[in-house]
Amino acid sequence: KEGKLWGGRFEESVTDAVERFSESVSFDKVLYKHDIRGSRAHATMLAQQGLITTSDKESILSGLDEIERRIEDGEFVWRMDREDVHMNIEAALTDMIGEPAKKLHTARSRNDQIVTDLRLWCRDAIDMILASIRYLQVALVRLAMKNEGLIIPGYTHLQRAQPVLLQHVLLSYVEQLERDIGRLLNCKDRMNFSPLGACALAGTGLPIDRFMTSNELGFIAPLRNSIDAVSDRDFVVEFLSANSIIAMHLSRLGEEWVLWASEEFGFITPSDSVSTGSSIMPQKKNPDPMELVRGKSSRVMGSLVTLLILCKGLPQAYNRDLQEDKEPLFDSVETIQCMLEVSAEFAQNINFNHAKIQNALPAGHLDATTLADYLVKKGVPFRTSHDIVGRSVALCISKNCQLMDLSLVELRSINPLFEEDVYEYLGVENSVKKFCSYGSTGSGRVAEQMHFWVSKLQIS
Ligand code: ARG
Repeated sequence: KEGKLWGGRFEESVTDAVERFSESVSFDKVLYKHDIRGSRAHATMLAQQGLITTSDKESILSGLDEIERRIEDGEFVWRMDREDVHMNIEAALTDMIGEPAKKLHTARSRNDQIVTDLRLWCRDAIDMILASIRYLQVALVRLAMKNEGLIIPGYTHLQRAQPVLLQHVLLSYVEQLERDIGRLLNCKDRMNFSPLGACALAGTGLPIDRFMTSNELGFIAPLRNSIDAVSDRDFVVEFLSANSIIAMHLSRLGEEWVLWASEEFGFITPSDSVSTGSSIMPQKKNPDPMELVRGKSSRVMGSLVTLLILCKGLPQAYNRDLQEDKEPLFDSVETIQCMLEVSAEFAQNINFNHAKIQNALPAGHLDATTLADYLVKKGVPFRTSHDIVGRSVALCISKNCQLMDLSLVELRSINPLFEEDVYEYLGVENSVKKFCSYGSTGSGRVAEQMHFWVSKLQIS
């Protein structure tokens, strides 16, 4: 067995069970690119500060290049007995270039190294997620463009409420995703500080330049406090909470589309390419991808809770528990990426059943609130008008008809203020035409929203 990099004071090697239990290389090897990037910056700084020679630096840098190439070409052998990504790379570098490699860990600890890697990795992961959110937004706006003018029932309490333009509903998701983008950008700004050089926890007595490495790695500045730098994973918690909010939004979208695809709603028909069948019921076609979007959101939220519980009992500074931050983080990022991608693909592959929606619109007295507004315009106090329209709806229910089917005589029997022009307010088309407030479902207002998004997302 090879001695550990930390083996000096030890007389026995760890048991196999402990080795297997504590290794992290099986999952943290995905950090290799960021780990190598951090090491390059660190070695360059050590040379600049005269802590290693230029020739040491040169051989470290070219060794790291070669290791990166081997990893990328699948030639690198990851060893569990070398514990984690950091020691795998450092030990391989030592095997390759000898003495100079042993100077790389000068004024550095795995404690600042891992959290440097993680911040760099999260920064890149955020950029990827941002691009996927944009992609989904574009898919939603395009879907809206394809269905201009389509009115659907709007719901509250899942009961029919008021008629709305489909575009208005789809853009509501685009707005939510926009705030998700804001949260990620915000989180990225806050995490973009360098822990490198915090060493184990206390910093170092060697003359390092943390500003240089921070700059080299594209961070805004070095973190001010070395204990904070190695202790906290609040940036991961923040990232996972931003992911959880995205997951919540996507889950709601999934739920709505699953409902819409049901026989009972029948608003959408997903294409076969985004549907799956049943192994027993030959007739079935299920919207599984959106069900899984709803289902997988729980994993993302679970990861956030894992991180919170992981960190809440830890004293300063580094504790090995923190190694458990990685799998939930990686899983959350991978899951949210797939959820975004699949949601966009679903949006690209559904058709709205205009005829079926049209037939469904008369049910539920969606124009009742518009009728109440009609009376308000005639000077009736809203509470009174609410009551008058309520009685008109009751009459419809007893006659099994719609508000627009009531005669002027019938309406006037409820209240004499109804006049011939009332019919301009009844029926869903008329009703939608009457909306005019900023942000409302009125066609002009929705056109404004569409215009905003089409130009913001540069959709042609
Ligand atoms: N694998 C460790 C982690 O993920 C790296 C830091 C280990 N530090 C240590 N002192 N054992 O957190």
